[in-house]
Amino acid sequence: MLESVRKAVFPAAGLGTRFLPATKSLPKEMLPLVDKPIIQYGVEEAVGSGIGDIVIVTGRGKSAIEDHFDVSFELEYLLEARGQKALLEAVRAISDKVNVAYIRQSQALGLGHAVLRSRDLVGDEAFAVVLADDVIVAPTPCLAQLLAIHRTFRAPVMAVMEVPPEQSPAYGMVQAEQLSERVFRVRDLVEKPKAGDSPSNLAIIGRYVLTPRIFDSLACVGPGAGSEIQLTDGLKHMLRETPLYAYKFEGTRYDAGDKLGFLKATVELALRRPDLGPGFRDYLRALPL
Ligand code: G1P
Repeated sequence: MLESVRKAVFPAAGLGTRFLPATKSLPKEMLPLVDKPIIQYGVEEAVGSGIGDIVIVTGRGKSAIEDHFDVSFELEYLLEARGQKALLEAVRAISDKVNVAYIRQSQALGLGHAVLRSRDLVGDEAFAVVLADDVIVAPTPCLAQLLAIHRTFRAPVMAVMEVPPEQSPAYGMVQAEQLSERVFRVRDLVEKPKAGDSPSNLAIIGRYVLTPRIFDSLACVGPGAGSEIQLTDGLKHMLRETPLYAYKFEGTRYDAGDKLGFLKATVELALRRPDLGPGFRDYLRALPL
């Protein structure tokens, strides 16, 4: 029987240069979207997909992430004493549901290298990878959609979406054979091709379900695009031996790692909130745009 996927790896060691100066001392994963840090959306998606073991690959200056997912005794004590139940629940909601382990990536050698750092904590089982910058709002959590495909094909699968040709330099792009409306068998992958050089318009979005075979591939591939060890290159290497699938997920994705994407996510997530949405909508409508 296929064992269920229990662990999700969150690479979070990046320097956040796209958000300087805010990220000089604050990890970019902790920037708030409305009232929750970016990384919490990804962790909640994992929990909503049945995954409670979280492995966060961190680096220097990221201790705020560890504190966020830990119990804050003083804060909880104070909120309890004041009878502020709703806030207490909001603070506890996530730390109660996850086991979080941390491993350091002491050198910024790329996404593939970050995933390789999680090898000992993941062990010999299938696992998910979540790039928290990609915030996905969906009726069924994106990771749960991928897990269903993984159960069907018993093979690694990654999320993809269509992007305009000029955006290919920002993504891993796949060449794939369409099997059904949303499912593709991957034939080739390339990390950040120049506009015009991409094999298709299907871009990898930061959700993957992988098998431990990826670790051997990542240990083999050398530096690729941007002189970094790329997860996409590891997947391409693995393709020699393992079938790979891509799934055009249902949902809306925001690139919260980019300033404009972050603003869009902030506005749209706030509009979706029952407590803030109506007042915020009125405010936006009244703006002299
Ligand atoms: C990473 C991956 C890339 C993928 C992208 C999705 O790139 O390397 O393959 O398409 O995430 O967000 P990054 O955005 O870290 O440069």
